[in-house]
Amino acid sequence: MRRTLAIAALLFAATVHAETPRDFLTRFEKEAGSTASAERGARFFTTKQGGEWSCSSCHTERPMQAGRHAKTDKPINPLAPAANAERFTDAAKVDKWFRRNCNDTLNRTCSAQEKADVMAWLLAQK
Ligand code: HEC
Repeated sequence: MRRTLAIAALLFAATVHAETPRDFLTRFEKEAGSTASAERGARFFTTKQGGEWSCSSCHTERPMQAGRHAKTDKPINPLAPAANAERFTDAAKVDKWFRRNCNDTLNRTCSAQEKADVMAWLLAQK
């Protein structure tokens, strides 16, 4: 009985924790207080904003493809969920990399609107 309960609790925790790319779009749109634009996301992702890099410097302009780190040249798996089922399934990972990459690219964090726009664009890739 105890064991069944423990397993049920674990399953429940796993279900609650699991996130999908759509969940992130919903979360960022809610935080931004407005809907996302895939078109704006594409522009944001592929344009340099004062720094040395744009997002596409490492992730390419076509996120269905694998990228390469602009500095270390290490391969990076595709960012689009349609090409890589592991993407946008773990909030800790998503938050960590948005923080780090936005800082590297923009010298600041990305706004919720910018993240929502990027998500909408990545989700539109087929
Ligand atoms: C200097 C290279 C570089 C740049 C520039 C860069 N990234 Fe990344 N990005 C990485 C690396 C390395 C990882 C982690 C390895 C991996 O997940 O494949 C990563 C991972 C991510 C992830 C994790 C997604 C997940 O769930 O796995 C997101 C989101 C992301 N990047 C978005 C961005 C955005 C948005 C920009 C532009 C603001 C950007 N990146 C610019 C190198 C870069």
